[in-house]
Amino acid sequence: MPSATRIKSPALTLALETSCDDTAVAILEHRSITEHRVIAASRAGQVATHAPFCGVVPSLAAREHARNVPILVEKVWQEALTKKPSLKSANLAHIAYTVEPGLAPCLLVGQTAAQTLAWSWNLPLKGVHHVMAHIASALAAPELKGNGYPLPAVALVVSGGHTSLFSVPSYTQIELLGQTRDDAAGEAFDKVARIIGLPYPGGPALEQLARKGDPARFNFPRPMLKDNSPDFSFAGLKTAVLYTWRDLKQSERPAARADIAASFQQAVADVLTGKAARAAQSLKAKTIIMAGGVAANETLRLALRDKLGKLSSKPQFVVPPKPLCTDNAVMIGIAGFIDMRLLDQKSSMR
Ligand code: KG4
Ligand code: ZN
Repeated sequence: MPSATRIKSPALTLALETSCDDTAVAILEHRSITEHRVIAASRAGQVATHAPFCGVVPSLAAREHARNVPILVEKVWQEALTKKPSLKSANLAHIAYTVEPGLAPCLLVGQTAAQTLAWSWNLPLKGVHHVMAHIASALAAPELKGNGYPLPAVALVVSGGHTSLFSVPSYTQIELLGQTRDDAAGEAFDKVARIIGLPYPGGPALEQLARKGDPARFNFPRPMLKDNSPDFSFAGLKTAVLYTWRDLKQSERPAARADIAASFQQAVADVLTGKAARAAQSLKAKTIIMAGGVAANETLRLALRDKLGKLSSKPQFVVPPKPLCTDNAVMIGIAGFIDMRLLDQKSSMR
């Protein structure tokens, strides 16, 4: 379907996301491959459940999803009815849900719910790749006004489970260029936050603390920045923070915490922006997309915008609104409708 094609009567879909610790449901109206309107959307997080364990416990997450999915489907449906009083299940084109990657027990809850709805409403099912959906969320950036972004694009997906660079030759086809060889960027944020005693989830807490810190005080490593590989590595950076923290006297730690947070965040931003800009240059990309939970980070957004501004090709920078950076069902709905595919299935994305 070409990008300019408009659908005669807009298609409505219902989408479910349960891959990790956010239960999310959305009903969307799709007017073209690039224009998607949210009719109703809701999300239930699980921070309180997992905070005592400093990380997501899959069995507890699955239990929460099983409790929340019916509640959210009902809530979103009622909300959609206030906007479209004649809405019926037969009006939906399909049900989209996250099929992979994610925590197996959590994915199973979403799949079971989606299958049940599809069976009882006699609708087709669309299994969506979660990382493709993060890239699809860029189409919801308000400045695009439903017109899409110039192609070809490069996409940087930075989340708790993934740090990957993709070539985006079309809205429906994506090719993996490189990915982390160890920790994901979000995972590194969460682990460093834990080292310096910040509450779970670590990413947003670390960003807040870093606002008060000096990003130049600690010269942490910028792993793999200088080589030409499109891959990433964050385990060494995390260990460098651990050793720095361990070597500080107890009395020095309170004053150093914000500087450590700011210096770590700067190191991550330097690596991510450096690699994304290099990929954009070599592929002559007209757009750079940044998506995933870590894309909510303001320092990273500013750093990438700044870096791209210095490239002679001046690619457009597209980042989804913050609520669509972390896991949500709107991105599943968009990706399910445009049916995004990974071109290079040989590369491991799990
Ligand atoms: O995309 P997401 O919701 O889930 C996965 O697919 O993994 O991303 C969650 C990750 C967590 O590691 C979280 O700490 C990180 O995104 N994150 C942030 C920020 N907000 C969320 N990292 C840095 N700064 C933030 N503001
Ligand atoms: Zn995600």
